[in-house]
Amino acid sequence: MKHLLKLGDLSREEILSILNLADQLKYERKNGIATDYLKGKKLGMIFEKASTRTRISFEVGMTELGGTALFLSNRDLQIGRGEPVEDTARVLSRFLDGVMIRTFAQKEVEDFAKYGSIPVINGLTDYCHPCQVLADLMTIRERKGSFKGLKMCFVGDGNNMANSLMVGAIKMGMSFAIACPKGYEPDADLIAWAKENGDFFMSEDVLAAAKDADVIYTDVWASMGQEEEKAKREKAFAGFQVNDAVMNAAKKDAMVLHCLPAHRGEEITAEVFEAHADEIFDEAENRLHAQKAVMCKLMK
Ligand code: CP
Ligand code: NVA
Repeated sequence: MKHLLKLGDLSREEILSILNLADQLKYERKNGIATDYLKGKKLGMIFEKASTRTRISFEVGMTELGGTALFLSNRDLQIGRGEPVEDTARVLSRFLDGVMIRTFAQKEVEDFAKYGSIPVINGLTDYCHPCQVLADLMTIRERKGSFKGLKMCFVGDGNNMANSLMVGAIKMGMSFAIACPKGYEPDADLIAWAKENGDFFMSEDVLAAAKDADVIYTDVWASMGQEEEKAKREKAFAGFQVNDAVMNAAKKDAMVLHCLPAHRGEEITAEVFEAHADEIFDEAENRLHAQKAVMCKLMK
């Protein structure tokens, strides 16, 4: 494993190995055992979109691993003024041991990896969000013991989260259902892959998709960069909400996960969110452990 550009690049064994290391790092942190496995290493973090969890978990994670993280905003970098990614990649490779990038086009992180000579970690693109899904899988395994026989149901937009979740869930042997409106399906190539490689179900009927699910997952109706589509999306997604009816269709002990930030009253009701807050905030914490594991795998 040289980069983390998308989950589809990792084997099931590589994902399991990251999750196992993440569990170990979480245990060590909880027990006051030092985790300075990346002493002296330097991670650049390029942000072309906003972030709370990703920025802070990478920065804290790198500090706990004994290294340094540099926050690099496109508002200050020359990349924001049009310097090509292939030049930025080659320059940063002379200074840093790894880079995390949050941006719009998946091609930008792929190009960075192609032209640079250091590990690249995708911290979210319009196409996918692999770091989030590693934390999600860690949280599911922590609570359910294993992935065997589990069903995940995603309710809402077939966006970056849906794309990564379907790949992650199916690679781990879970079945995956998505309820989304017509025109808001996940990536077509990933749908074809999911149908070929696992148990995949897609419907406009939320309750049919949620039936007997072990994990209910949702995300915002309008992602970063889609702000001007907000009104149109509110109409299209009305009814695609995680609420009591959805929870009644799922298994009694179903978990609810949300990558956050959440919009109560839109993709999830305040009641369901609060009833599952422990799971959702464990999930947020696990970003730290999962990403520390990824950095160790790539930068050690
Ligand atoms: N879930 C997630 O990536 O959160 P941030 O946008 O706050 O980083
Ligand atoms: N789909 C959301 C995820 C945020 C973590 C977005 O891209 O804005």
